[in-house]
Amino acid sequence: MSTALVVLAAGKGTRMNSDLPKVLHPIAQASMLEHALVAGRALDPERIIVVAGHGAEAVRAAVAEIDESAEVVLQTEQLGTAHAVDQARDALKDFSGDVVVLYGDTPFVSADTLERMVAARANADLVVLGFHAADPARYGRLVMQGDSLERIVEFKDASEDERAIGFCNSGLMACDASLMFDLLAKIGNENASGEYYLTDLVELARAEGRAVTAVACDEAETLGVNSRLDLAAADAVFQTKARQELMELGVTLMAPETVYLAFDTVIGRDTVIEPNVVFGPGVTVESGAVIRAFSHLEGCHVSRGSKVGPFARLRPGAELAEDTHIGNFVEIKNAEIAEGAKVNHLSYIGDASIGAGSNIGAGTITCNYDGVMKHRTTIGARSFIGSNTLLVAPVTLGDETMTGSGTVVTKDVEAGALAIARPRQDTKPGYARKLMDMLRAKKARLTKGSE
Ligand code: UD1
Ligand code: MG
Repeated sequence: MSTALVVLAAGKGTRMNSDLPKVLHPIAQASMLEHALVAGRALDPERIIVVAGHGAEAVRAAVAEIDESAEVVLQTEQLGTAHAVDQARDALKDFSGDVVVLYGDTPFVSADTLERMVAARANADLVVLGFHAADPARYGRLVMQGDSLERIVEFKDASEDERAIGFCNSGLMACDASLMFDLLAKIGNENASGEYYLTDLVELARAEGRAVTAVACDEAETLGVNSRLDLAAADAVFQTKARQELMELGVTLMAPETVYLAFDTVIGRDTVIEPNVVFGPGVTVESGAVIRAFSHLEGCHVSRGSKVGPFARLRPGAELAEDTHIGNFVEIKNAEIAEGAKVNHLSYIGDASIGAGSNIGAGTITCNYDGVMKHRTTIGARSFIGSNTLLVAPVTLGDETMTGSGTVVTKDVEAGALAIARPRQDTKPGYARKLMDMLRAKKARLTKGSE
């Protein structure tokens, strides 16, 4: 059976109080929309249609980044969830199979739940995803009769008895495409909100004698985001779960609640993460590494046995081989640090490659940017770069080279050579004391004059 996902993402999200469309707000550094689309991938969809409205251009650009095969259709006026799904009608006119409706602002639905919904379609024409709410609040209520779902009643339209029902509508549903679009055409907007309710599909399907059922999932999976507070809460839920998973996989988090993970962080067994470490997107840390306190990593790879931080910053393209040491106040960007190399203090290494076993002295800087273009620095193996060396790129230093402290390297250095580029020291015997005496005498004169 082929599947088409229809992802509703047109709502404004007024309570976010934001210029950014709601579905593009990030949780663990991926937009809610991306979380929803990634979950939907579990169904191996033949088509993916995102219904955009508010901020449609931004949504379109984001969708193109996430999944090239996904299509965006416009809902120019937000007339309700049924009207939103109906915007996919044209795009899906030649599609036969199941439509699975997802919400762009409900990021945590699991692959397993979506698979259970599709499996339940074997015995029902329409399957709705419900959950038992601790606080049912304003959710639509699922009116069940045995295994059969009779109808969904929106909170605004519900009677006292119906409001007492704790089984709630997540909004997600699965239905045969042609049945869904036939029924959508019959939905009106005579209700408390004057909106076209997708939930009316249930009663319409029942009226045609169709089988309708509900599948239940954990409430955490249907967590929707309507405000910045909800967003922070959703992020916290994600973090707690992701930290737990890492610890179960054998990663030590010394103070788990202070480690901020991205949706795609990968960390190997027996790696230790000290407190207050932030992972941006695209980080892989292999086994047996140590990431010390207050480090910030994104788009980088740390190999087995390496030590990073405290206070280190690894930016995109930082590629650390085994047993490297990156110390305090060191920034690495788009650079390969080969096995056993050390950059321990106060350095910027950008657009560079550092050979195996090399030692980069404190305060070394690759001057990679001339104001217009970026240039590379290459340093061979077993080299020793003196403290406060400036490497003016493009520049290449061979294996086993050295630079004197304070050197400004502007020319290539051949293997085995020592480069020193700094003024020679001039030492004047007795001058320090003489100068001090002069300065003290001057201060005494000035103080006297002002009395
Ligand atoms: C909807 C359900 C309700 C359910 C709740 C779960 C209906 C009528 N009600 O209510 O039963 O308990 O979700 O959260 O379906 N959207 C559009 N275009 C529109 C309207 C909505 O794209 O014209 C999108 C929104 O961006 C959002 C989703 O559809 O992603 C749900 O819309 P929302 O207005 O939040 O529906 P609720 O009132 O919460
Ligand atoms: Mg809602």
